[in-house]
Amino acid sequence: MCGIIAYAGHRPAVPVLIQGLKSLEYRGYDSSGLAFVHMNKLHLFRASGKLEALESKLDSGHILHATSGIGHTRWATHGLPNETNAHPHLDVTANLALVHNGIIENFQEIKDSLSNQGVCFCSETDTEVLVCLISHGLQKKKDIKKAISWTLDQIEGSYAFALISRDHPGTIWAARQASPLLFGVGTGENFIASDIPAFLPFTKEVVFLEDNELIEMNAGQWSVFNSSTLEPVNKEVKTVSWDVQAAKKGGYKHFMLKEIFEQPKVIKDCLSGRINREEQKIILPELQNIAVPKRLHIVACGTSYHAGLWGKYVMESMAGIPVDVEIASEFRYKTLVPDKSKMFLFISQSGETADTLAALRLVKEKGFPVLGLCNVVGSSLARESHTVIYTQAGPEISVASTKAMCSQLVLILLLTLYWTGKNNPEEKNSISEAIKSFSSLPDVLEKELPEMQRRIMGISRDYSWAKSFFFLGRGIYYPMALEGALKLKEISYIHAEGYAAGELKHGPIALIDEEFPTFAIAPSDHLLGKIKSNLKEIQARKGKIIALTQAGSELNVDDELQIPQTWGPLNSFFILPALQLFAYETSVYLGKDVDQPRNLAKSVTVE
Ligand code: G6P
Repeated sequence: MCGIIAYAGHRPAVPVLIQGLKSLEYRGYDSSGLAFVHMNKLHLFRASGKLEALESKLDSGHILHATSGIGHTRWATHGLPNETNAHPHLDVTANLALVHNGIIENFQEIKDSLSNQGVCFCSETDTEVLVCLISHGLQKKKDIKKAISWTLDQIEGSYAFALISRDHPGTIWAARQASPLLFGVGTGENFIASDIPAFLPFTKEVVFLEDNELIEMNAGQWSVFNSSTLEPVNKEVKTVSWDVQAAKKGGYKHFMLKEIFEQPKVIKDCLSGRINREEQKIILPELQNIAVPKRLHIVACGTSYHAGLWGKYVMESMAGIPVDVEIASEFRYKTLVPDKSKMFLFISQSGETADTLAALRLVKEKGFPVLGLCNVVGSSLARESHTVIYTQAGPEISVASTKAMCSQLVLILLLTLYWTGKNNPEEKNSISEAIKSFSSLPDVLEKELPEMQRRIMGISRDYSWAKSFFFLGRGIYYPMALEGALKLKEISYIHAEGYAAGELKHGPIALIDEEFPTFAIAPSDHLLGKIKSNLKEIQARKGKIIALTQAGSELNVDDELQIPQTWGPLNSFFILPALQLFAYETSVYLGKDVDQPRNLAKSVTVE
């Protein structure tokens, strides 16, 4: 949610900042800006709208001279997404410029107090209040680090920010509290960013900053301090394995399409080192010292929540472990019933979703064991969980999550098989069958995807007139229906609802007519007969139907797309991309912004 990049080095800073912002645009994209010091003056460029609007404002003259600066891409929280509210924000009395992610919760009180002391504000943002407060601190403390520390003592809420000063060209300060911030260590150049892809073309050496840490850096030096005491903090430099290509479109028209087509590789990568084919065993060394939970409580948001719901079906039916699944934003404000037999599993692609992290902290505080399932190495969720399992899906750039969910399903299934092996040794045969089918899945899926896309492109065009859609599934495919509906609304802005097919007649069916189509997931499993009856009820009301079927489950509906058949839960790995491609092709056909849909952000680091 909002992207920060800061650079100090030997290269012209503005192109580095723009490149960084391009790779962060998925975090927010309603306005952007950058600032740098040149010739004893702070230069500020800001624009509303996409990054191109900012680029077109940059005149090529003096911008190439600065070798340090800060940049920001915004997802509005306080104030409209216009140029005045875009970051960086300035304090003209002290000549400071600041970019900020997060929300300063007590900003209004501070603003009122500063206003009473004669400070004038230009924007509606909490960020401007932050930079003005630092300036106020500077008047008292006469030192920027001390002024920042003084400021941070007074503010409440979440933040990650980077600050420059006209009077200290080449130096950048940054700090975080409950909002991600990383430091990239280069040779003769250093970076600060809210996410790794922003500096990945320049360095893979990363320092993960923690809450209450403040960093001071220039081209050749950096030091981290405790932001309250200003005592130095020793930090470890870690090397990340992500490669630059993984964060590029690689010939695809959109990141989303690339990420959908990456799913066979994602499955392979997730399985790598986690299956012992000879002994027909699942290897999850992370779980070595953890007892099989008596009860599992899964907490997540958005697509990750749907992965969790899917997990409930497989975990209960195979491993025999009772599972509760909850949306983090609800869970965090509920009364937590003490039940020491529970283990908590938090699922998050980014590892930075504010509600998921708040729920995790709550649970940890109460002494429950916490397992994290996460894609981003070193993210807050990864660091704060007692045990973390990485999904190994590589960077996911498109705002609509696709391959991340695929990787979460693989890991949930591996976890299920692992615990099944421990809980129900008599299930050895199903574990062997799962392992065999898993091994062949990536190749079958890879072959299937191009033809699936071709068919879905045609079908999606035929339904692009629709204003609303139902997505229906039963059992394990009910969470898939929720995900199909979420994908469609996220990127095509068509209203869509996912339902457990059996619920239809309890209300939603009132909406069905010839202009309200249904997308049904109807593979040939034990629930096929049930879903067939539900579809008949829709047809009786003239509702049009698209159905995902399998050999043997053919239906007499308007449009049918057959997917291959495999072992039990693995059928989901064909259904998921079909739903994703339907949303994708509809969005492309309707001319929507596939990778950066309106009002959304990839990583929601505010509540
Ligand atoms: C945002 C994204 C969704 C994602 C959700 C949870 O809303 O737009 O695609 O599913 O956050 O994100 P997480 O990183 O916690 O999985």
